[in-house]
This record gives sequence, structure tokens and C-alpha cells, in this order.
Amino acid sequence: MQLYKIAKPFILTIFGASGDLAKIKLFPALYSLMEQKRLPKEFYIVGFARTEKSDKEFKKEFTDSIKENQNEPTDKKILFELEKHVYYFKGQYNDLKDFQNFKEYLKNLTGEKSLITLAYFSVPPIVFEDIIKNLGTTKEKNEDIRLIMEKPFGEDQKSAKNLFHFVARYFDEDSIYLLDHYLGKSSVQSILHLRHSNRILNLMMKGPEISNIQITAFEKLGVTKRTGYFDQVGTIKDMIQSHLMQILALLTMSIPITENTESLHREKYSILSALKFIESEKNIVLGQYEGYKKEKGIPKNSKTETFAAIRLFIDRESWYKTPIYIRTGKKLHEKHTYIVIELKKFAFQPKDEQPNRLIIELQPEEKINIRLVNKHGSSSDYQQITTSDSIACTGDDCLPEHGLLILDVIRKNHINFLSFEEIISTWKLTDSIVNFMRKNSVKIEKYKDESTGPESQNKLTEIDNFEWFDIH
Ligand SMILES: NC(=O)c1ccc[n+]([C@@H]2O[C@H](COP(=O)([O-])OP(=O)(O)OC[C@H]3O[C@@H](n4cnc5c(N)ncnc54)[C@H](OP(=O)(O)O)[C@@H]3O)[C@@H](O)[C@H]2O)c1
Repeated sequence: MQLYKIAKPFILTIFGASGDLAKIKLFPALYSLMEQKRLPKEFYIVGFARTEKSDKEFKKEFTDSIKENQNEPTDKKILFELEKHVYYFKGQYNDLKDFQNFKEYLKNLTGEKSLITLAYFSVPPIVFEDIIKNLGTTKEKNEDIRLIMEKPFGEDQKSAKNLFHFVARYFDEDSIYLLDHYLGKSSVQSILHLRHSNRILNLMMKGPEISNIQITAFEKLGVTKRTGYFDQVGTIKDMIQSHLMQILALLTMSIPITENTESLHREKYSILSALKFIESEKNIVLGQYEGYKKEKGIPKNSKTETFAAIRLFIDRESWYKTPIYIRTGKKLHEKHTYIVIELKKFAFQPKDEQPNRLIIELQPEEKINIRLVNKHGSSSDYQQITTSDSIACTGDDCLPEHGLLILDVIRKNHINFLSFEEIISTWKLTDSIVNFMRKNSVKIEKYKDESTGPESQNKLTEIDNFEWFDIH
């Protein structure tokens, strides 16, 4: 396969270049792009933040964080070459004058050339509007600025709408890239490729054939450093509203015939806007790990959920009465993200016989697994035949999520980014869940650190006589 290489010179401005996202995700992704020789001769990586710092200090931070966060040992020569393209500008996000000076600074750097500029918002959402306004105000006619913003987009439907109206005052929708890093994972992208290329899979993955869908995303880590942010939002907004709804959409949407952005966004929006949470306490289980309130920066009376399990439906004739269970939580016994699609059994099959299952594992391993039931020879016992294969990206052309998505932005390819409509529809559903939780003070169950989560998550699947399928 021909590797995509960036041909044209570009500027990547990273707002909030001193933060975690930049250090843990972006800088290592840039290293991978350099390592794979995908970067052009001329490009500028410019950190913009409020802290006073020299280019030299920033270059050191840049290379140190790559060494720390890159899975493989780094190559000195590559780092040295990459570092030559790195610069730093100190500025306030809310100061127009600083943005005017920044513009002059970039012109000096690039020799007055007008280059494609990627503006990466690696800052907390509270700063987004200042940057949008100042970038928009100083933008010159015909200047090609592409904004890259990471979720969360707002904190509910109303604030997301406000943000989108605000950004639309300054930039066209085409120059806005709304990033959910799960969509940069090759395993998540492969859900659609698998469905698109395998009629046999797609025949199975239809509402009338499926008894239930389960999406599990267990995290071993607790709240880590992002305490302030997490305690404000909780697991439902942090994980379900974005990453897990996207996975659900890719699994259940109608497959567009043309694999282009417009068709994909249309179908994703269509299914996401049909998701339904039936307001009842039996459709939701919340939990908080025992050590949560002892974490630095977490209020002693915090009522934030660190675990959530919900039961949803799709308001569509073809998905009538097919429950969808989603569960996710922090500080659990393992890091494991997987999807289980259970197929319906024949009416004559014994109740205790296992159903056929399609299992797609996304983390830590990436593999697809089909489990069929059979009897061997004269044995009276039923056994499972399992066919399993890796769907992990292998070889030299694999990139971390942020590397892949930066290439997409350069190519003006929105297919792996979100549309305004999708985000608004997932917030609409999330708002209905969160409002229900608050209005009814849904109980938050304590669970032991490093356990499998609250006991009562089982009640959710028992409503329909199913069980969570745990992969061991
Ligand atoms: N970290 C992750 O793994 C992750 C994952 C998914 C999404 N995100 C999203 O990515 C963005 C950046 O995340 P992050 O974890 O890197 O954020 P962060 O570390 O909290 O902040 C990044 C930088 O923004 C500046 N900043 C922080 N608070 C500010 C404030 N109140 N006003 C003005 N500037 C402020 C600071 O730089 P200076 O003080 O030097 O200017 C800071 O180093 C956020 O929108 C976050 O929600 C992050």
C-alpha cells in the first residue's frame, strides 16, 4: 500500500502546548509521522501557551515527552530532525493583540508565505471561544486555517449548540474538524470496513437477527490527573456521550453505498437520533469506586459516577425490542473494551444453550471472534467453535490515532471526524439520561477498587433474560 505523505508545507499551531494532551498524544504522533517519512521538507510546529518559555526549553519538553510517551525506543536522529521544526510563542488566549503579534511572528518564520495552518485546540473547552474569536478576527481573506477541536463539545445540548453557532460566525463548517480520538483507532475504523466488505457479517448484523448488543469499556486507571474536569462531568458524559455512542452508531447504522463523508455522517446521525432511553430506574446503574473521594482534588461529598451501565433501544421498526446495553467505568479489574453481538436462537433451541456471538475486541487487543455452537461426534454436550483473528494494524504504516487524524485534516478528509448534528443528537440523548438521574436521585452504588464494578449491573440484562458476556 502506498503511504500517504504530506506534500505541501504547513504550520501546526498547538494552543495549550504545555498540557497533557499535547505531551501524551500529539507530540508522539508527530514523531510517528516523521519516523514514517510522511512529513514534508518544510513544516512548522508552533506551541502557543501562556507560560514564559524559550524555543530551546520547549524543544526539550517536546522531545522529553516523546521519549516518555512513545511505546518503542526513540531514534535520536529522527528526534533531532523533528526538533528543528519546533518553535514556541508565549501568548494569552484572550488577547487579540497577542494574536496579531502571533500572525507577524508566523510570517517572519515562514518568510511571508501563506501556508495551510492547522490550529489544534489542546486547551480546556473554557478557552475555546477566545481562541476561535481571535483566530477568526485575525484571519486574512483566503487564508487556509483548519481548526482541530477535541471532545467534549459543550456539556449539554444547549452549550454544544452555542459553541457551534459561535464557531460558525468565524469559520466555515469545512474548516472545522471535531475530533473524537476513538474514530482514529484502526480497530474502530475496521467496524465499518468489516461490515462494508463482508455481506455475511452484514446479514447477521440486522435488528431482526440480533437478540441484544453489549458494549463494554472497562478502565483500570482511576481518575488520574484530570480530576477537575472529570468530577464536573462523570462517566456518562465523558465516555458514553462520545466514544461509545460512536461505536454503537458504526455497528447499527445502515451502510452507505458510497463511502464518503456526507453519506457516513447522514447515516450515523440517522441512527444516533433514533436512540432512546426509557426513563426508568431499572434502565440505569451508577457506581463510584471506593477510593474516588480520596483522590487528590475530588470533593469529599462528590456524587459523580465513575461507573455507568445503561439500557437503550433504537426507535426503529427493524430494531424493535432489541436491547442495547452499555457499561463503562474506572478503576476496574482490567482495561478492556469490547463489543458483543448476540444472535437470536431458534425457538426450538434449549434455553441453556449458548447463543451465537460475534465479538469485536478493541482494547487492549484488537480482534474479531465468532462463536458458534456445535456438538462433536456422539457427545451430548454442546461446544463452542471459535474462529478468531486479529484486526490490529500491523507493519510500518500503522499510526497512533492523532497521527492518522492529522493526516486526514491535511487531506481535508472529514470522514473520521464528527458532524455538528451527530454531536447534538448524542447530547440530546445524554441530557435525557442525566436529567432523569438528577430528578430521581438515582442511587450511586459503591464498588471496590479493581473489582468488576457494581453488583446491580446484572439487573439491567436480567430484565430481558440475558447476561453480560465477560471475556476471560
Ligand atoms: N488529556 C487527555 O487525555 C484528553 C483526552 C481527550 C480530550 N481532551 C481534551 O483536550 C483538551 C486539552 O486537554 P489537556 O488535558 O491537555 O488540558 P490541560 O492540560 O488542562 O490544559 C492544557 C493547557 O491549557 C492551558 N490552560 C489550562 N487551564 C486553562 C485555563 N483555565 N485558562 C486558560 N488556559 C488554560 C495551560 O497552558 P498555559 O497555562 O501554559 O497556557 C495548559 O497547559 C481539552 O479540551 C480536553 O478536554 C484531553
